[in-house]
Amino acid sequence: MIGILYFSSTGNSLYIAQKIQDQMGGQIKYIPNYNGNGSEFEKIILVTPIYSYGMPTFVYDIIPRLNKATELIIIQNYGGMVGGADYYIYQYAKENELNIKAVYTIKMPENFTLTFTVPKFYVNRTLKNADKRINNVINSIVSGYYKIPKKCKTKRDTYLKNKSNWHLIGEDFSTTQDCIKCGKCVSICPVNNISLQNEKIVFSNKCVACLGCYHRCPLKAIIYKGKNKKDRYINSNVIESNIGRDL
Ligand SMILES: Cc1cc2nc3c(=O)[nH]c(=O)nc-3n(C[C@H](O)[C@H](O)[C@H](O)COP(=O)(O)O)c2cc1C
Ligand code: SF4
Ligand code: SF4
Repeated sequence: MIGILYFSSTGNSLYIAQKIQDQMGGQIKYIPNYNGNGSEFEKIILVTPIYSYGMPTFVYDIIPRLNKATELIIIQNYGGMVGGADYYIYQYAKENELNIKAVYTIKMPENFTLTFTVPKFYVNRTLKNADKRINNVINSIVSGYYKIPKKCKTKRDTYLKNKSNWHLIGEDFSTTQDCIKCGKCVSICPVNNISLQNEKIVFSNKCVACLGCYHRCPLKAIIYKGKNKKDRYINSNVIESNIGRDL
């Protein structure tokens, strides 16, 4: 049985995970809720977004505890620039003596869109192009044609520095009067950084910058630095309520 471990805040990684499951079978597990080490699987395919030329905190943290004998394949998806994330995760897995076989990258729509807007036509074109790439990656895995990433120029320090500042993003979130206190953001935050206190949504200091709350609030009531931009992103090919679930 293949274990498809994923993290996703806006559905791109979930979409890739589901495509893999459709073609290869296996169980999909949401990393923040997964306490295992992958030893129950014959192969682990880990699907993750790229964050700051690296990985979300959850993905970074799960690597050292994965079973050393189980074959590991990593699929990273990104909005614009890989910046060596593929090479560094390969190295990081090697440093942790994991049985890493390959790292693939797939361009998907950008979701770090706090300060700019991606035109709809470009999002749709990216999603269309991604399908071809996803199928190619799955064919490579099935046929055992593994891709080992090449050394890159970007320093790993860039990622580690940015990662150490992610908690600051939570300080710049607030809610507008459109908030209906439905509690959705409270329940989807992967680090319990959001709470409802005295009828107000409060952001604490444990944010890991996933932007799940920002994009998935049904009223677009979470805003960044006091500016209410209209655009939010959720992958239109997934059922939104499945983001964060095991499937
Ligand atoms: C905190 C953060 C940092 C990001 N950093 C990068 C990056 O360095 N390079 C890039 O191309 N995309 C970056 N992105 C965009 C995501 O990798 C991309 O949109 C991904 O497909 C989102 O996957 P998801 O929908 O499964 O969460 C970043 C997104 C977030 C939230
Ligand atoms: S998801 Fe949006 S509407 Fe619901 S409580 Fe959070 S901010 Fe308010
Ligand atoms: S507060 Fe929002 S952006 Fe920060 S970790 Fe929670 S859901 Fe993600």
